[in-house]
Amino acid sequence: MPGTLLITGGASGIGAETARRAVKHGYTKIAINYRSRADQANAVVADITAQGGRAVAIAGDMAREADILRMFEETERALGPITHLVNSAGIGSRARVAEYDAAVIAHLFAVNVTGLMLCCREAAKRLSTRSGGKGGAIVNVSSLAATLGGRPGASAYAATKGAVDSFTKAFAREVADEGIRVNSIRPGMVMTEMTEARLKDATYRSGIEATIPMRRVGEAHEIADAILWLLSDEASFITGAMIDAAGGGYNI
Ligand SMILES: NC(=O)c1ccc[n+]([C@@H]2O[C@H](COP(=O)([O-])OP(=O)(O)OC[C@H]3O[C@@H](n4cnc5c(N)ncnc54)[C@H](OP(=O)(O)O)[C@@H]3O)[C@@H](O)[C@H]2O)c1
Repeated sequence: MPGTLLITGGASGIGAETARRAVKHGYTKIAINYRSRADQANAVVADITAQGGRAVAIAGDMAREADILRMFEETERALGPITHLVNSAGIGSRARVAEYDAAVIAHLFAVNVTGLMLCCREAAKRLSTRSGGKGGAIVNVSSLAATLGGRPGASAYAATKGAVDSFTKAFAREVADEGIRVNSIRPGMVMTEMTEARLKDATYRSGIEATIPMRRVGEAHEIADAILWLLSDEASFITGAMIDAAGGGYNI
């Protein structure tokens, strides 16, 4: 039986959809981290409660170590020991290399990479059988951009997701015999708050869809279901894997 599931960036998009679907997958205790979207986080909590689960919304900026530490403590105080973690908090960025801004890149890495790694550290301390834990599973939300360098202008974002994948692989191997499985999911273009402004432009959307073998963008629930499967015992021999959920990738 799963214990407590913690989802960073859980108020919107892929994180929120994972939280909403988690009850059907047997989770009864779910912590939703959010940065600025308190109302959306509370709506996800209400949806979980309506399905018979227990949930809390926990504010925290994943670019700040102090917030990460507090988030783990508050989650456990409210819901008991964490057994599953989904790192979905993430931000995009768009610039040609010649236009890079050092502060923007530093923040991008702080959220997408360092914050995710520190969340994994906090989970490892609690889950590892080496430190008395009972094991568990973690899914890091990467991106197909990690494999192809992303669409034009996404090089810095792609670099953060490449870092997520290589970290995931190394971390998974490090803790494989300590009861912890760690995998990453690599979504292609998915309709969420991160992409909807661009995808509302019909010309942009049809241009994107023409490059995807399935000829469509993905929906958040298609990623959430894959995440919940990777977290589940059905994936018990899978660790250090990168799963593409991308309609066949894309050609540009
Ligand atoms: N949608 C896609 O096409 C796509 C494709 C590949 C990978 N992904 C990845 O999927 C993950 C989820 O994105 P999404 O598509 O679901 O978009 P989304 O709805 O924008 O979700 C991202 C969430 O992360 C939160 N977040 C951002 N910075 C944060 C911080 N410093 N601390 C805590 N939370 C923070 C955002 O909240 P705030 O707005 O309040 O900061 C937001 O709720 C991201 O890691 C993204 O890179 C998305």
